[in-house]
Amino acid sequence: MSGARWLTHFGLDDLPFAKDIDDADLWLPSRRAALVDELVDAVHERQHVTLTGEPGVGKTCTLRALRERLPDAGFRLTYCHNATLGRRDFYRQLCLALGLSPKATAAAVFYAVGAHIEELGRERVHPVLLLDEAHLLHQDVLDHLHVLANYEWDSRPLLSLVLVGLPELNDRMRLHRNRSLWSRIHCRLALGEALPEDTVEYIDARMQAAGIKQSPFDSDALTMLHEATLGRLRDIDHIATECLKRAARRKLKRVDAALVQNVAKDCA
Ligand SMILES: Nc1ncnc2c1ncn2[C@@H]1O[C@H](COP(=O)(O)OP(=O)(O)OP(=O)(O)O)[C@@H](O)[C@H]1O
Ligand SMILES: [Mg+2]
Repeated sequence: MSGARWLTHFGLDDLPFAKDIDDADLWLPSRRAALVDELVDAVHERQHVTLTGEPGVGKTCTLRALRERLPDAGFRLTYCHNATLGRRDFYRQLCLALGLSPKATAAAVFYAVGAHIEELGRERVHPVLLLDEAHLLHQDVLDHLHVLANYEWDSRPLLSLVLVGLPELNDRMRLHRNRSLWSRIHCRLALGEALPEDTVEYIDARMQAAGIKQSPFDSDALTMLHEATLGRLRDIDHIATECLKRAARRKLKRVDAALVQNVAKDCA
């Protein structure tokens, strides 16, 4: 716990908008919970998935909610976020993530990954490869992903690919060159910005998780916060935190719309 004075001022036990939120404290209103359900179902059905959305809307947190929902016994999740690697380094990283020793050649890496996936299939463990920031994947990695995606045994894919990224991931997937991969991805999900009522709920949820029942944000302040951030959660985190700090410095117990407006202008 941080002992910052602004936390004490508001009676907060913890940073209310920290990134390292516990999986159990993730905010999942019904629309987000429904999206997580779709992801969970798709992975249970061994499908491949894309999940796209603007920066900071909560895509990576949605993956954490997925992790929380999948039973350890039946699934092996591998999270890769270093999407800027070339094909060879990508497979090398994949080996490490799967607990395999990295191989010297791309062919050896591919063989090891394939053999491992087959082995997991025999043990009835379904591997799920989560590729975050997938809009940044090198084309030669994308060129090969459909080979992994197409790894079939008993006519069912042995691996689920979950590609997560900015909306331009969809544009890339629609390129003629990527049609083999795109045609194998049937579960195509989009995560939108929070609606005005979501923003209110989100702030309340995070303030409560940090230890206070009564949020210090006035209702006008929440409207302003939503307008200034367009409902993107990372921006809400940033501006709301700055508002709380400034209010504490001025010994104010409430955050009003004027304060939010000033902070938003300074943070723009
Ligand atoms: N379900 C959630 N519950 C609580 N906080 C969340 C949730 N989703 C997002 N957040 C907050 O919003 C921030 C941004 O979320 P996240 O990193 O998941 O966005 P993203 O869509 O992956 O962004 P980027 O495209 O930049 O990678 C998180 O650090 C967290 O504070
Ligand atoms: Mg992310």
